[in-house]
Amino acid sequence: MAAPNFRAPKGTRDILPPESGRRRAALDAFAEQAELAGFGEIMSPIFEDLGVFKRLGESTDVVTKEMFDFFDKGDPPQHLALRPELTASVCRGFAEHRPTPPWKVWYEGPQFRYEQPQAGRYRQFHQVGVETLGTDDPQADVDVIALGWNFYASLGLRQITLLLNSLGDPSCRPAYLEALRSYLTENYSSLSTQSRVTLERNPLRVLDSKRPEDGEIIAAAPLMVDFLTDETRDHFDAVCAGLDQLGIPYELSPRLVRGLDYYTRTTFEFVADALSTAQNAVGGGGRYDGLVEDLGGPATPGIGFALGLDRILLACDAEKVFATPEPVTKVFVVDVTGGNHALVICNSLRTAGIGADRTYDSRSMKAQMKVADRSGALLAAIIGEDEVASGEVTLRDLRGETGQRRVALGDLVSTVGRLLR
Ligand code: HAM
Repeated sequence: MAAPNFRAPKGTRDILPPESGRRRAALDAFAEQAELAGFGEIMSPIFEDLGVFKRLGESTDVVTKEMFDFFDKGDPPQHLALRPELTASVCRGFAEHRPTPPWKVWYEGPQFRYEQPQAGRYRQFHQVGVETLGTDDPQADVDVIALGWNFYASLGLRQITLLLNSLGDPSCRPAYLEALRSYLTENYSSLSTQSRVTLERNPLRVLDSKRPEDGEIIAAAPLMVDFLTDETRDHFDAVCAGLDQLGIPYELSPRLVRGLDYYTRTTFEFVADALSTAQNAVGGGGRYDGLVEDLGGPATPGIGFALGLDRILLACDAEKVFATPEPVTKVFVVDVTGGNHALVICNSLRTAGIGADRTYDSRSMKAQMKVADRSGALLAAIIGEDEVASGEVTLRDLRGETGQRRVALGDLVSTVGRLLR
């Protein structure tokens, strides 16, 4: 029988070191920024009742085409799905636990969408995000957007554009949808076949079409901003004024519609100008003032965003910023005695908080030094018969700056600590 030849499933991939270290560093940077802004971490289940995600919009691709859903082994079986995003789970959690508002949470984790994979588009991808529930103060919108903006900057990204729009609310959306529907119906014969189908389900989503034959019609379509009520417009103006005050540049993008149906009022997207247009959305979010109620909770406004870590790191590659962090291993222990010195020395360095590594299988000095050089460690701690006899260790600077010296075995940890400082 031929040996099996398994591969990671289509649209998924293994993230190996050192790239995994870079991701971890980006996640840590996000956690730090979010905590600094008063958000606490929420850890939600990776799967939920399918009904939770149906609230994302029965006419969205995410729900109709991209759900990884399955039945469990219960009697009767429950229809579950891997999460395609986390906002619905956070709102379900709010409805379930009823925390005191405003409730500010951040998250990170894998999401799952059955998409056609390509560069920057995966079936399992990683998001970081925040949600603020229980206030519709426009300053909460500004705080959330500023957090996203500052996070990109903290990674060193400079070519990020913030697109901003208001999608109105139930007081002004119906009139707009009616105007849009009748405009698109008038132009029905010129629309792409796909957009004709979309029009039946949700006219707003037609604005999202990238098909060339729809371009001209979309460009002349009525705009939501012209239908905002005074109250919704004031809210949007206050968001813009807050961003101005913080010096965060944005582009008003009146045709920005997001891929999920729950949005009301403020909506935004972060675009990486260094990436090709198909995958340049590195994050997005907005208000979803009806979602908690839809999920069985009290009427609760909400605002948040999710940023796609995979694409962010592609943008970092394109801008040549946020390099792989320095290796954690600082000392490589080379033991040519065949005894257990490496075991003991590594353990004392590690318990003192100093990254230490070694080889196994009693390899030659030359072979061990080769691995030491490759490891990225700054120092080699070499121990042979000579050193054992005198109770010492030879410390060699692997960058060749300060040569080598002998230190007493008992002083090794403190000497290394000093040299690394
Ligand atoms: P979203 O726009 O669907 O929004 O996803 C946010 C980000 O996740 C995208 O901008 C992109 O960077 C990344 N992303 C989405 N799909 C993929 C994929 N297949 N492969 C790689 N990256 C991907 C949401 O998920 C909302 N929950 C955001 C939100 C939070 N709105 C309010 N609060």
